[in-house]
Amino acid sequence: MAGNRTFTMIKPDATGAGNSGAITKMIEEAGFRIVAMKKVQLTKELAGKFYEIHKARPFYGELCEYMSSGPIVPMILEKDNAVEDFRKLIGATDPKKAAPGTIRALFAKSIDANAIHGSDSDENAAIEGNFFFSQFERY
Ligand code: RTP
Ligand code: MG
Repeated sequence: MAGNRTFTMIKPDATGAGNSGAITKMIEEAGFRIVAMKKVQLTKELAGKFYEIHKARPFYGELCEYMSSGPIVPMILEKDNAVEDFRKLIGATDPKKAAPGTIRALFAKSIDANAIHGSDSDENAAIEGNFFFSQFERY
């Protein structure tokens, strides 16, 4: 059965453009409950740790550089079928291919500066949420 939590981060292009409020509003209007949220800036080393899964890919260096270039807004979200429904709400990785009305179609600038992250499985949602939010706090 699909889980009811996912993890997201609003990326530096979107926080820098002043779009975190508009994006958060879209997330809530789509029926996701914000379980935990904060604004932080990663070091390149921490971004590297978060994206370790992409270490072998050619864009890894740029991705870590980019994700540490400005503040991000990580969140844990709750909704039935959260992972899949949230990936639908954000749209394809490349904003040129993202369906109209999705967060990336509306706010992303490029495949790198693509406004928002969404976990790709229940397992990764839990790992990624625990990366930013203490397991000892109650949300
Ligand atoms: P995300 O993890 O951020 O939600 O994005 P995603 O699942 O749609 O894409 P993924 O394959 O997990 O890639 C992670 C992030 O790396 C950048 N990327 N660049 N230049 C490229 O070909 C390329 N491919 C991916 C994107 O910023 C992507 O969100
Ligand atoms: Mg991904």
